[in-house]
Amino acid sequence: MMATSGEGFEQLTQIEVLPATPEDALPIRQLIKDSWLNTFVNERTGITKDDVEELFKKGFTPAALADMAKALAEPREGVANFVAKDANTRALIGYCRVRKMPVENLLAGLHVAPHIKNRRVGTQLWEKGQGTLDPTKDTVLWVEVNNEDAKAVYRRWGFAETDPPELFEEEPMKSGAHRTMVKMIFKAKHAPTPDLDPSRAKLTTELDKPGASMRGVPDNGQERESRLRAPKEATMPESVRRKILATVQVLADKHPDAGMLQTTLGAPLDGSVEEVVGQACYLLLNEIPKLYRDDGNPKEAGEALSKIVDRLCELGILSSDERAKIDRDSVGH
Ligand SMILES: CC(C)(COP(=O)(O)OP(=O)(O)OC[C@H]1O[C@@H](n2cnc3c(N)ncnc32)[C@H](O)[C@@H]1OP(=O)(O)O)[C@@H](O)C(=O)NCCC(=O)NCCS
Repeated sequence: MMATSGEGFEQLTQIEVLPATPEDALPIRQLIKDSWLNTFVNERTGITKDDVEELFKKGFTPAALADMAKALAEPREGVANFVAKDANTRALIGYCRVRKMPVENLLAGLHVAPHIKNRRVGTQLWEKGQGTLDPTKDTVLWVEVNNEDAKAVYRRWGFAETDPPELFEEEPMKSGAHRTMVKMIFKAKHAPTPDLDPSRAKLTTELDKPGASMRGVPDNGQERESRLRAPKEATMPESVRRKILATVQVLADKHPDAGMLQTTLGAPLDGSVEEVVGQACYLLLNEIPKLYRDDGNPKEAGEALSKIVDRLCELGILSSDERAKIDRDSVGH
């Protein structure tokens, strides 16, 4: 049994940090739920115990746990899950999920059992997780904006909020309360450029949409892991950023194995469907943001974006329904 009080932990001599296995699915979900109850149920957030019960209700069904066990057994490309265990009792006391992505690394989830916080379990988990990430890329995470304890820990590890802060609001919970999340970044020591590395980049099937739901079964790593964000530029309008992400989202869902393919703006999008998708994603995630960043040319960028979408429709890679969906998803939330 997991120790339930601080005194129990005093006797612990050793903590083991190991890759998570399918058998860890239920204890991980229980740990995350306990962590939510302890961290987010308070007057500040307005989130109630009932909200958390509702949120996790579906996460404990046999089907949901089987899904999670499968995801732990066969993690998606670039994903690593670690658990911290009491070496004596084998009780689960911490969980960490990280993911390597084309643009950046993501610290997708980190929870330490409430009674054992501040005893360096989180540090050990983060060190293991960080070891699997690409050191040449920045690492991002999202933390509840008023979760000062966690933010203090992340600052200690070298993460910092962006200036201005990048925020997004999750969907309201049952009571109407919701979390507002803020982005923190750990800058790579020698990040070459924020551009994609086309030779290694792979599309991912899930992309972040600001304001989109991070609900469902929270913090199991499935929802939050994959924020493939277009490089964020101060001058890039949010609607353009959304359109880029919405377009890449549709393409990545349909062609999850397409790789980025380097090309230049103005060159015809040509070749096999996978090649065209790879070229389009490269332009959308790499070249168009550059037009804002380097050239300060929003008009050209807007036109180039439309041309890419037109061409994808012309080639039948995007249907008119999908185009309409992209337009809907690009509208502010
Ligand atoms: C955030 C969390 C994962 C950190 O794990 P932890 O095991 O408690 O953290 P550690 O003990 O490894 O602390 C790391 C460092 O931060 C310091 N620290 C911890 N809490 C702190 C606080 N409130 N203020 C300032 N520094 C703090 C520690 O002293 C330690 O510093 P050191 O390296 O000099 O020893 C854990 O507290 C947790 O699960 N919190 C609740 C869930 C949560 O908020 N998760 C994050 C969701 S994004």
